[in-house]
Amino acid sequence: MTGTGSAGFAPAWDTYWRGTRENAAHKEGGVQEALLVEFWRELLQTQLARNPDLRVLDLACGNGAVTGFVRQISPALVVHCCDYSLHALVELERRHPGNLRVVADAARLPYADASIDLVASQYGVEYAGADAIVEAARLVAPGGTLALLLHVSEGAIYRECERNRDVVNAIRALDILALARSAFAAGFALNAGTATPETFKQAEQAFTPAVRGLEEILREAGPTVAGGLPGQLYRDIAHMYRKMSAYDPAEILGWLEGMARELDAYQGRMQSMLDAALPRDQLLALQAEVQAMGFAASPLRSLTVNDHSPAAAWALVMQRR
Ligand SMILES: C[S@@+](CC[C@H](N)C(=O)[O-])C[C@H]1O[C@@H](n2cnc3c(N)ncnc32)[C@H](O)[C@@H]1O
Repeated sequence: MTGTGSAGFAPAWDTYWRGTRENAAHKEGGVQEALLVEFWRELLQTQLARNPDLRVLDLACGNGAVTGFVRQISPALVVHCCDYSLHALVELERRHPGNLRVVADAARLPYADASIDLVASQYGVEYAGADAIVEAARLVAPGGTLALLLHVSEGAIYRECERNRDVVNAIRALDILALARSAFAAGFALNAGTATPETFKQAEQAFTPAVRGLEEILREAGPTVAGGLPGQLYRDIAHMYRKMSAYDPAEILGWLEGMARELDAYQGRMQSMLDAALPRDQLLALQAEVQAMGFAASPLRSLTVNDHSPAAAWALVMQRR
């Protein structure tokens, strides 16, 4: 694998793909999934029927959702897979072995002009900034296609991310991990005979309102909010606190530090999704820019689960003349 570039929120994604978290931050099989599967199945079947040797790039591929769709139709096709996160590509190789993987910033791609027949991206290229769409278009060969599913500003996923981000921010504002750390430290010191019951009581009194605050957040937001991370935090703290004497202090400290990193990375990921989402006007302007590079005009579509729900994705499909 090769590597280039830099990007603001990429570390939060790399933490996600590295899998240091104990629970998934988002689940496969959400309400939008059937829409996405249908979109790619239709597009890929048509394209691969026309050209079985299609040069396909899965841009900001993550662990290879689009690559997986390609492989379902053409198991032997080798896909170019590019993501900023090395760990995403490691995971992609585990799920879909044998593809060509490149670590790179989608804003500055290490591929030649007009070298790819199908540049595809699902909720990916826009993380490198809106101009990365123009950079992606640069790679498309004459007769080739740019096919992007993009986050919609104020759309269904946007709303969900906003809520998750706000919940995680509210938990961080409770300072629960630092207060838990003091309470655990005082508890261990009490058990070791190096602190008084009064010291422990004070630490516990400071910690209790944060626990109540977390309970309140969970009551209001439900157990599955933010990928279940707040619920896990609550259950783990309660379990360790009840069974404190069964734990090594270093183990608890390590857990608290890991959880703080989890919350930060989760917040960063949610924020990156919000920042990446595109309003219609901005996307129409980008579409015009791509058209000026020799692509045929095509309508901007949005994918929607039903008539009453906000859009789940912009579907931008443009062909180069
Ligand atoms: C929402 S995930 C989507 C992954 C995959 N396309 C999918 O549909 O499951 C966004 C992906 O963009 C990647 N990413 C974020 N910033 C990037 C950048 N500047 N350049 C390339 N990839 C980036 C992340 O590592 C992550 O894998």
